Amino acid sequence: MSMIDNTNTLLSAPTGSLTIPQFSDRNYLLFSLVIPTYQERENIENIVTILTNLLDESIPTEYELIIVDDDSPDGTWEIAQSLMSEYPQLQVMRRQGERGLSSAVIRGWQVAKGEILGVIDGDLQHPPHTILQMLDTMRKGTDLAVASRHMDGGGVSSWNFVRRFLSRGAQLLGLIILPEVLGRVSDPMSGYFMVRRSCVVSTTLNPVGYKILLEVIGRGNVGEITEVGYVFCERKQGESKVNWKQYVDYIHHLVRLRLSTGKLARFSKSMGFPIGRFLRFGLVGLSGVFVDMGVLYLLSDPTTLALPLTRSKIIAGEIAIFNNFLWNDAWTFADVAMQQREWRQRLKRFIKFNLICLAGLVLNVLVLNLVFNFILPNRYIANLIAIAFATIWNFWVNLKLSWRVTQVK
Ligand code: GDD
Ligand code: MN
Repeated sequence: MSMIDNTNTLLSAPTGSLTIPQFSDRNYLLFSLVIPTYQERENIENIVTILTNLLDESIPTEYELIIVDDDSPDGTWEIAQSLMSEYPQLQVMRRQGERGLSSAVIRGWQVAKGEILGVIDGDLQHPPHTILQMLDTMRKGTDLAVASRHMDGGGVSSWNFVRRFLSRGAQLLGLIILPEVLGRVSDPMSGYFMVRRSCVVSTTLNPVGYKILLEVIGRGNVGEITEVGYVFCERKQGESKVNWKQYVDYIHHLVRLRLSTGKLARFSKSMGFPIGRFLRFGLVGLSGVFVDMGVLYLLSDPTTLALPLTRSKIIAGEIAIFNNFLWNDAWTFADVAMQQREWRQRLKRFIKFNLICLAGLVLNVLVLNLVFNFILPNRYIANLIAIAFATIWNFWVNLKLSWRVTQVK
């Protein structure tokens, strides 16, 4: 086992995909503990001192502490850096240009030398001594040790009813969307755990928001899991960074994991058919239906402007096309659009999309008239059928021509 070469220099943050590299045999440690921080200047020295005392007693020189600070305006990273000479096992990364709890943790793991990779909050809400219990189970061969609020000896100190309700509600929602991941642990929201490197090595993680444990269980290759109870303490210093956005991120994360793991993803891969993209395209199309229907009503309904059906439909369709382009470019094909961000390129995509959709609109009008005049004299049902036809056409042709997905991961 090697000592750490700690010379007060900051670690540089890796870039590119969030993949945990292979374990290096030459320069390794037993345990790397990442402490993600944002605006934790009052807590940082405390937590480093406590963790160092704890780990120096059980595994001296076999561990490292890695603080990953997202360039906190309060200078957390600077304070952390000044502690390095006193704490030789401490490393500090000041991350600029990228933000977020989950990705901070992975960036830390990417430079870590440990065979066991851990994470703990930097605000002392996670009781440090639980680390020893977790390390113990890891040494007995568990792949993943999770500190849980919902085990014997676990709990939350003084949460009110609303907060408990929201927390449990989020867990229940997760269980419905992703049972094979959330069903494996009693506290899937825990941000306090450790995992064997071999279970996540070479895995590209792709988390949104706070819940990195979901990502580890969902994409990693995790066998036995052991949970250890802990009480989530109240914050004494600084402020929580949790706000409503974390709830949105959480749902986004669940859906993304659902689509990229499990049966649906395997089916999608084997068929060579981008199901996730198609669902997004379909949802965008659905928003277009409302726009289309609304405008059609305003223009052509006998009780409103009572314009001719075909003329109304062309205007309604064009407005819906514009709506759909904006959403598809910002969401459905965001990964492709990100690589071509100049407004000229966007304009080019819009023109292509528009032309393809205009062809779709011709099809749309044709089908509408056909259905309305010969099959079913109800303009709305006829319109729905026409839109369905046009959507299928639009998806196929735009997939092949507008947002070409040649170099997407
Ligand atoms: N680098 C970095 N970047 N760190 C961050 C960021 C960020 O964008 N946002 C938050 N952190 C750090 C905080 O400084 C703190 O050390 C830790 O992540 C947790 O953030 P809090 O804002 O204190 O979250 P919490 O107390 O509501 O929730 C925590 O505990 C839960 C229960 O275990 C989180 O860790 C949850 O993931 C966890 O489930
Ligand atoms: Mn906290």
